[in-house]
Amino acid sequence: MKRAETIDFLSEHNQRRIIQHYQRLSPDKQNLFRRNLEGLDLPLIFKLHQEFSGKNTAALVPVDIQPAPIITVPKTPSELVFQEKACVEGEALLRENRVAVLVVAGGQGSRFGFEGPKGIFPVSPVKKKSLFQLFSETVSALNCRYRAAIPLLIMTSRENDGTVKDFFRANHFFGLDSGAVFFFTQEMLPTITADGNLILKDETHLFANPDGHGGSLKALHKSGLLSELVQKGFSDLFYGQVDNPLVKIADPVFLGYHRMAESEFSLKVLRRRNAAEKIGVYALLDGKPGVIEYSDLAPGSDCLSGGEDMRFWAGSIAIHILSLSFVERLNCQGFSLPYHRAVKVVEAPGQDGKAEKATVWKFETFVFDGLPLAARTCCVETFREEEFAPVKNRQGEDSADTARKAISDRFRRWLVEAGSAVVAPGVPVEISPRYALDPAELAEKLKGKTLVIKEDTYLE
Ligand code: UTP
Repeated sequence: MKRAETIDFLSEHNQRRIIQHYQRLSPDKQNLFRRNLEGLDLPLIFKLHQEFSGKNTAALVPVDIQPAPIITVPKTPSELVFQEKACVEGEALLRENRVAVLVVAGGQGSRFGFEGPKGIFPVSPVKKKSLFQLFSETVSALNCRYRAAIPLLIMTSRENDGTVKDFFRANHFFGLDSGAVFFFTQEMLPTITADGNLILKDETHLFANPDGHGGSLKALHKSGLLSELVQKGFSDLFYGQVDNPLVKIADPVFLGYHRMAESEFSLKVLRRRNAAEKIGVYALLDGKPGVIEYSDLAPGSDCLSGGEDMRFWAGSIAIHILSLSFVERLNCQGFSLPYHRAVKVVEAPGQDGKAEKATVWKFETFVFDGLPLAARTCCVETFREEEFAPVKNRQGEDSADTARKAISDRFRRWLVEAGSAVVAPGVPVEISPRYALDPAELAEKLKGKTLVIKEDTYLE
């Protein structure tokens, strides 16, 4: 929508309070206000409001939920052979420069409460490397190993884009070629009250939120990056979230399974700790593969019953591979992912300008909603301790402390498995991705050496 049209549009949608506020602003500030409105999809927010006003959300929850097929961790000789085959296939994809890596980093990280984008948080146990540094160094190590030039795509939000880019520049892109790191920004959607009013954030901004991690698939298209990747011959996109330092970026085995299944959308899952763990459940939802949010499960649902042999054991950890042709298809007639509504309480300026609490609707799309839209999917089991330690909360479960410990524990395990290290209990250990990307590479590097680790250790 053009800048000049935004105020008329708000008027047509009975946004009296916003219009009155706008009329009281100086011409300069009015201009700024209109400029800030420009990037917001105002027609979409009113459409969503209308749609959800009459919606019975209970009706959206699937009626029939069944366990879905999953490639579990290999145990039998034939499963191991299949895994090796997958690795060969995946490595070929990397060598042929068919794979791009996307890290979504546009979230607000409100539970974590860190000043600044989560990606710059110093998470590693010894060197205090940031999440962005860990991902960048992993891509750099993969480039070396496969003689590839993997593009690293970082999705930011309007709120953190400048800081993220400055951080990469100040750190010389952590050794990556700056031309191979691509930033793109997701859209923001205004929040709206149940009775259809937009609210102010400050004098010249409406209250708005990033449009969810699913917005990455829309923004990738809108930014032109998607067609650029396709034109350059890339076929698949590895998707990871910035808040998981253990994500095995562009895992060749996962890529291979994805390729062999001719999958359009693949995901990794792990065994849920128990039925109450707040993690999306992977299942067949009314006959189609999908992920159901913990909060959408009805009390008494089968998925909420635990026990040793939990029937619905698979929790999604937001690690995906998507074929680029599928992402193109999602965007070909508008954007196909459905929007979800969350009800939130925010602090916003009231009539008299003083902060007051307002209950608002926030709309987002989720990347995993692409699953039921894909023609073919593939799901692979992994181990929590190898691949999932999200940094979500300021303290306690899923915090920086638990992630740091999980990183160190993983490296200690690799060292012990390599058979050539004695590690004192509780000592933090860190291995640079450029030293070893996996236990096999570590074992190869350490051949003939015995390490005795008694204090904080970093292998580079
Ligand atoms: P979360 O769902 O945990 O949200 O994001 P969050 O915003 O980071 O944290 P809270 O809920 O406010 O505490 C999971 C991943 O998806 C990305 C986040 O950056 C994180 O990597 N994300 C989330 C986006 O990129 N954009 C969004 O709009 C939402």
